[in-house]
Amino acid sequence: MALNTKLKSFVMMMICLMILKSKDTLQCDAPTHVNRCPRNQQEWKIREKELNCQSLHQSNDSKTELLYHCVLNAEGTELIEVCAPSKKIYGSKCTEFNDGGSIIHESYISCEKFQVPCPTPYNSTKAYEYQECYDIVEKEREKRKNRTENYDYKCSCFEKWTVAAVGGVIANVLIAIIYYQKKQNNKIKNEIKIL
Ligand SMILES: *[C@@H]1O[C@H](CO)[C@@H](O)[C@H](O)[C@H]1NC(C)=O
Ligand SMILES: *[C@@H]1O[C@H](CO)[C@@H](O)[C@H](O)[C@H]1NC(C)=O
Ligand SMILES: *[C@@H]1O[C@H](CO)[C@@H](O)[C@H](O)[C@H]1NC(C)=O
Repeated sequence: MALNTKLKSFVMMMICLMILKSKDTLQCDAPTHVNRCPRNQQEWKIREKELNCQSLHQSNDSKTELLYHCVLNAEGTELIEVCAPSKKIYGSKCTEFNDGGSIIHESYISCEKFQVPCPTPYNSTKAYEYQECYDIVEKEREKRKNRTENYDYKCSCFEKWTVAAVGGVIANVLIAIIYYQKKQNNKIKNEIKIL
């Protein structure tokens, strides 16, 4: 009975620790897939206000100031809204958010030959000036959507968090079961010794 209570409190403690730990990363400054990006500066300003990147915890260092962005993903297959430090984009490329590195940088897609060609460098917060970057992604996505319907992303950060939390719970329960069985085995061994 005592062991059972211990086991329960152990599992509860692990779950609480896990939730506390993941709370830090559960901010919606995580990249969110969107269907479209702002078409002009005015729309950009509106979304900038709505996402309110300034409200996110950030240091005074202006280099790391989190600014609103609507850019391509690394594969050039999705549009992403994210609060991230701005960057000068070189090489006449579209702007992407690299999920792995969690940074804004040059896409592999060139915007040099577009109707409104991008200069080098340009500030990543001006990505909306090169709309053809978005158009490429939208066309690609339209094609894929026709193939696989019901492809709807909401908040990828939430999904990641959910997966992590569920995975963590399962891992902790497994650890607890192993711990419990070991204890039981020891108990049986001890009982045999006594006999
Ligand atoms: C940020 O700057 C303000 C004044 O400019 C200062 O009062 C505040 O302590 C600074 N915060 C940090 C985290 O450095
Ligand atoms: C880009 O422009 C914003 C203002 O619109 C500015 O705060 C930021 O420092 C600039 N970024 C770079 C890398 O020049
Ligand atoms: C996708 O399907 C829509 C109609 O459902 C069509 O108008 C559009 O041209 C298709 N797009 C592509 C890229 O095939």
